[in-house]
Order: sequence, then C-alpha cells, then structure tokens
Amino acid sequence: MRIGILTGGGDCPGLNPAIRGAFMKAMDHNDELFGVMDGWKGMINGNVRQLTLNDVEEIVGKGGTILGTSRTNPFKKAETDVPKVLENMKKFDALIAIGGEDTLGVASKLYKQYGTNVVGVPKTMDNDLSCTDYTFGFDTAVTVAVDALERLRDTGRSHRRIMVLEVMGRHAGWVALFTGIAGGADWILLPEIEPDIEKMCEHLKLVKQRKNYGIVVVSEGTKFSELEGEQEVDSFGHIILKEKGIGEYTAKIIEEKTGIETRVAVIGHIQRGGSPTLFDRMLGTRVGVKAVELIHEAKFGQMACLSGNEITSAPLEAATSTLKTVGQEWWELAQTMFK
Ligand code: F6P
Repeated sequence: MRIGILTGGGDCPGLNPAIRGAFMKAMDHNDELFGVMDGWKGMINGNVRQLTLNDVEEIVGKGGTILGTSRTNPFKKAETDVPKVLENMKKFDALIAIGGEDTLGVASKLYKQYGTNVVGVPKTMDNDLSCTDYTFGFDTAVTVAVDALERLRDTGRSHRRIMVLEVMGRHAGWVALFTGIAGGADWILLPEIEPDIEKMCEHLKLVKQRKNYGIVVVSEGTKFSELEGEQEVDSFGHIILKEKGIGEYTAKIIEEKTGIETRVAVIGHIQRGGSPTLFDRMLGTRVGVKAVELIHEAKFGQMACLSGNEITSAPLEAATSTLKTVGQEWWELAQTMFK
C-alpha cells in the first residue's frame, strides 16, 4: 500500500516515535510510507516525500516532528482547499493523521463527508482528547513543568516569595493539575474551576507564615472574568492564550491581596520541546504501529487509543466531539494536597 502520514497542530515529544512506529509496521507489510510536510498544509499543496528507514531509525529520542507541522485547517477555505486535499489523497491508498482535536477533527470530517481512507493517531501535550486515557506529549510536558516548579521553589524559598508558574494546556487543566500535584504546589488554578481568589490568598498567607514561601501553578486557560473579552483566534477559532498574560495577572492579584512579594515564570513552549520521556516514546511507538494495523483492517475513520494499558481504537468523531477536561474528583484530590 501507499500510505501518507502527517503531523498537525502544536508539536510535542512523541511525534517522532509515532512516525517511526508507523514506518516499521508499514515495512513489515511491504507498504511505502510518504511524509506529508507541515500538516494539512502539505495535503493542500502536495508537499510529499517518501520516507526511508534512514529517515526514521534514529528519531525515537528526538523532540518535535521530522515532518514539520502547521495549524492549517482546509475547511477554513473549504471550497478551494478541500478539493486540493482530495486530489492529493489520490497519491495514497490511506492516510495517517497524527494530531489533536483540530487535526483529527479535519480527518473526521474528510472521512464522514468524503469517505476518505484516513485513520488517526492522538497527540497533544494538553491531554484533552476524548476516547484515550493519555496522549503522548503530556508526560514530557509535565516532567518539564515539574522541573521548572522545583527550580522556582529554590529561588522562592531563598527570597521568601510566592512564585507563580504559568503552564500551557489550553482549555483543559491537566498540565497544571499534574504539575501542581506532582511538584507539590500550594495552590493550582484551572480553566475548569472558577478561581476563588479570596480563598487562595487566605491560604497563601497561612502557607507563608508556616514555611515562608509559596508556589502557585496556573493554567493559561484559567478564566478570570476581568480578562475575558475580545481575543485573537487561530484558524480553528481558538483564542491565542499566550496573549492573555494569566500568570502575570495571577501574580499581580496575589501580591495586591496578600502583601507578599510575588514573581511569575511562564515556561510556554519549553514544555513542548526536548527528548520524549520513556512513557511518551512507548505510547507514540504503540499508537503509530496501531495506525498501520487499522489501515490493513480497513478500519477507516478510527483513531488508535490507549485504554488502560491496551492499545485499542475509537471513532474519530467520538474522540473529537467533546474535550476531555478535569473533573471535580481531580480538583478534590488537588485540594487535599493544599496544606
Ligand atoms: O495545544 C497545544 C498547545 O501547546 C496549547 O497548550 C497552547 O495553548 C497552544 O498549543 C500554543 O500554540 P502555538 O504553538 O500555536 O503558540
């Protein structure tokens, strides 16, 4: 078979292991694997090249994606771009789309509306895709963020300050939640939970009295009513959250309300770079292999996913129709750790 493979949306560690996994499985079937460059943009402009063993055999430990990526949405200018995608699709028997909600949302529409032979591989540092327990990229992102938190603890303790760490994660608080719990933060702010500023500041005053410093992890998507308003959006209609300055704002109100000197660090894209962790290498490899298996079983419109420790599959439509967000039971666990 001739199989195309693309990576779309924000990059994350684990993409290269997934590409390698797909290649190795395709090789077992005597398939040819073609790299589509820069996500859906490559399917619009036909930027495709055949991958060789040489391209993939040493990439398992490399961050980013050897295929490049973009946030291109062919359905934004559907009349002109979708026909180009369908025309370029004729080069392949099937296509593997590796991405998050947006990239896989496009794959789902192509399957549903045009019967395109597409399968999905879930990725995102945000861990917000439904139908899979975890997505690769998340474990590495949180590992990086926990390291940042521990560094902030050293300097915060020395200066007797409150340190605020802003992490990414878009509209889901998984990265902030896991970073805060695993790193031992004194408070966590999440998009899913309305911020209780008074309660947080009272708690931080007590924390400061007890140990003379404090750590707050804030998700970039936390909703402060004062900051809501018109926002710049990307081609999928998502607010560009880095413009909002959530970390800065959090630090400002903490300092105002507690009188304690407060500093902020925003680690942004540092969370998306670097070598994938063991977990992300293994998960990426397994879902990459599974994608080729799905193609050979003609299970188009499906996405490889992790369920417990099994790699299974689920419809792309179900995976992309609702975001997986942090539920109340997780917030209760977080609060148990605030002492
Ligand atoms: O979806 C992954 C993510 O890293 C989000 O956590 C973040 O809001 C967004 O991408 C940043 O996008 P960009 O790389 O386009 O600035």
